[in-house]
Amino acid sequence: MNSKTPNSPVTFRLNGREAAVMAAPGERLSVTLRERLEARDVKVGCDAGDCGACTVLLDGRPVCACLMPTQRVAGHAVDTLAGLVRTDPLAQTLTQTFQDHGAAQCGICTPGMMVAAVALLRDTPRPQAAEVQDALGGVLCRCTGYRKILDAVLAAGHPPAPLTGSGAVGSAIRRLDGAAKVTGTEVFGDDVAPPGTLELRVIRSPHPRARFQFGDLAQYARAAGLEAVLTADDIGGTNCFGVIPDFADQPVFAETETRFQGEAIAAVIATPDRMRQFDPVDFPVTWTVLDPVMTVEAAQDATAPQLHANRPGNLLCGGLVQCGDADAALARADVTVTGQFSTSFVEHAYIEPEAGYAVPEGDRIAVYACTQAPVMDLDGLEHILGIDRRRIRIVPTAVGGGFGSKLDLSVQPYLALGVLKTGKPVRMAYSRHESMQSTTKRHPAEISITIGATRDGKICGLQFAGDFNTGAYASWGPTVATRVPIHASGPYLVRDYRAQSRAIHTHSPPSGAFRGFGVPQAAAALEPLLDDLATKLGLDPLEFRISNALQAGEPTVCGQVFSQGVGITACLTALRPAWAAAKADCASFNAGQGAHGFLRRGVGVAAGWYGCGNTSLPNPSTIKAGIRANGQIVLHQGAVDIGQGSSTVITQIFAQALGVSVDQVVLVGADTDLTPDAGKTSASRQTFVSGNAARRTGLALRQQILAQLNAADTARIVPGPTGLSVIDAAQTHALDLTRQPPNGEGYVLQAMETYDPPTQPPDENGQGAPYAQFGYAAHLAMVEVDLALGTVRALGFTAAHDVGQAINPLLVEGQVQGGIAQGLGMTLMEEFVPGRTANLHDYLIPTIGDMPPVDTLIIEEPDAHGPFGAKGLGEHVLIPTAPALLNAIHHATGLRMTRLPVTPSRLHAAIKAHADA
Ligand code: FES
Ligand code: FES
Repeated sequence: MNSKTPNSPVTFRLNGREAAVMAAPGERLSVTLRERLEARDVKVGCDAGDCGACTVLLDGRPVCACLMPTQRVAGHAVDTLAGLVRTDPLAQTLTQTFQDHGAAQCGICTPGMMVAAVALLRDTPRPQAAEVQDALGGVLCRCTGYRKILDAVLAAGHPPAPLTGSGAVGSAIRRLDGAAKVTGTEVFGDDVAPPGTLELRVIRSPHPRARFQFGDLAQYARAAGLEAVLTADDIGGTNCFGVIPDFADQPVFAETETRFQGEAIAAVIATPDRMRQFDPVDFPVTWTVLDPVMTVEAAQDATAPQLHANRPGNLLCGGLVQCGDADAALARADVTVTGQFSTSFVEHAYIEPEAGYAVPEGDRIAVYACTQAPVMDLDGLEHILGIDRRRIRIVPTAVGGGFGSKLDLSVQPYLALGVLKTGKPVRMAYSRHESMQSTTKRHPAEISITIGATRDGKICGLQFAGDFNTGAYASWGPTVATRVPIHASGPYLVRDYRAQSRAIHTHSPPSGAFRGFGVPQAAAALEPLLDDLATKLGLDPLEFRISNALQAGEPTVCGQVFSQGVGITACLTALRPAWAAAKADCASFNAGQGAHGFLRRGVGVAAGWYGCGNTSLPNPSTIKAGIRANGQIVLHQGAVDIGQGSSTVITQIFAQALGVSVDQVVLVGADTDLTPDAGKTSASRQTFVSGNAARRTGLALRQQILAQLNAADTARIVPGPTGLSVIDAAQTHALDLTRQPPNGEGYVLQAMETYDPPTQPPDENGQGAPYAQFGYAAHLAMVEVDLALGTVRALGFTAAHDVGQAINPLLVEGQVQGGIAQGLGMTLMEEFVPGRTANLHDYLIPTIGDMPPVDTLIIEEPDAHGPFGAKGLGEHVLIPTAPALLNAIHHATGLRMTRLPVTPSRLHAAIKAHADA
């Protein structure tokens, strides 16, 4: 941005009112709106015109505010979402339809989506789906899979009756935090700091591996007018963090040598005006570039540099599960198949880059930032800052998408160190490039697998070996290494099994958690080979899976036996009608016009399973609730809602257990000062684990109330304006709460309960009880392949998911559709290349035009451990997507693609090689 001082204000109409603002020449309209005019409803995801989050109306036409110089809007009219919902009936209608359809999950894309939709609806009040897809094609959403957004815009022409209801378990109510998302008032990580706050920027390594030396930093800071420079010397505690304490290895600031391109070495703090002039090129550092190792193969070479002295061979860790005798079983198998598969780094690409704000509060520091794990953040900061943890408060902001990457620390240590150094509030927001360079990725995998079967179609022996590129630091690599061998069998009965995994360091960004912890990569190798095995046996692929599906009472590959709650057969059989119809459709298309052209259709199926919660480790969640003297019921719910809807689901569970409706519950969201530890939002654990804690808390509070009146268990609790009534049989008892002394938090009744899933650690062969419950899934994908171009178009999905009990079916559908969109991206287009991928035009994610209809089949095989029978869902939703697509591509082309993503160039090359052969 040009830093010259303007000499006259730019005037324009903003949301119907005159605005006059001094903007620097060339200043982005998004900056002017957000920082000078407090229009924080305008979101910024890329600053490059790629994501559309910043969409506003300029004289009624949608434009990207990040690409629009503010001077250009002089004399024009600019409308943002917040203004539109105040005055425009179309925007007001959309606020209702977006909520009724669950079209806003995290909500960071919602202002851009709704603004673009308003422009469309003004021109075309009753648009067709294709017109909506056209109009919204420039706005990216990473959460929803777009289908509910499409439905919400289509419904604006004829709004349905709004969703209502008590929120009882099983009812599809609106999300409780939805209103803020559709009115532009939701506060994300970069929306908290007041304008004028000191800004912090991290200095990062331009090389994957290099030694470095600083020049005179004090002199530089003075000359550049900086408030402060931070380096490892400013760390009062330990310059090391990590999500798994035993493996913590990542410095906040590298000290002498960097291990990946984008690693932090220092940070600068300055006023916003100074920061605009700051150029990192001038930062006094000299680099000695060293040769990196970028692949797992290179990293294992005897001469390879060792990233960590205590991890010879660059091996972070490994995992093993074995049962029976896989070698003997494969030797006696009637048929076997074998294959090698590889997958790429996948970027989370949430629309909200990491951002936050930290502020001194007395002798304490409060950190407001997007996070999936506030208590883990607190643990990490305590260690890094070297101060008493009671002096640290973590307040999660709304999270604009996480999917696993916001489990790791990002902006938090820099912000906290900045406050300690300056004594002043400090803010920072990663640029898109910085977010992509420095945060965790899905592990690339190199997988070898062999499966055998007997002539009667039963799986007989399975061997799996997977090497995972875990990047420079441990992050969640150990979890991936542990989870993969447990899940690599898929949800099938496999009595003779050996699966090994290794997490190997390279000079790449750390690989971490991304929806599934390695299980999607394993499924992308297993399930295509199951198709090949079925083909060799002359069996239908779906029926082959059904006949091998794990049943209640049968052991998993870990020797764990579930006597109930095993829903994979139900998921697979639910696909039968769609499978038959899709096969017929493909046959007819391919035999007809398609046979003479370049288009071929194919259909594929695949299954998946996923253990909910931590693997064989303690995993508790605690939920607290209280009742005030006026009868107000308050739920302290510390499970961070990253868009998936945990705040709504956990409240539904609590309310049902207490015996009230959700609208009678006031929610206090995650804040380490106010909410007990509900654990991290990951591993599909919040509905299951925090849901159970909420259920126990609701029941405990209910018991306290009933006990005071000697009422029966069946009595009905009715909150009223002045207290509670309890209706027991035909009698109504008033409970006068005003006579009871409130506790320190103002509650006259309070309950706090904890739930920790029962698991058992594995033995040396991985035998044990790693999870208290699994969720199950089966997907069907239908595709159309252009043989001339190598492109693949998804035509539709049918997704069957066993969720035990759908606490909120609307949110279940949203998770399924969003997960499938991410699976689609992983399969067909997404590939992060370290050092090359820098933004959302290098890195493509599915747009609204890429997502076909999804038919979600909710299967409810209740789980004895789940709250009201519910199971987790978040990770399960993309596990079968990639292999279902790979199998559909194979069905269409006869080609077995073994490297993800299947880009047009890769598929085209395979088609050509096949034709040449
Ligand atoms: S922030 Fe403007 S398009 Fe992404
Ligand atoms: S709801 Fe669209 S990005 Fe999260």
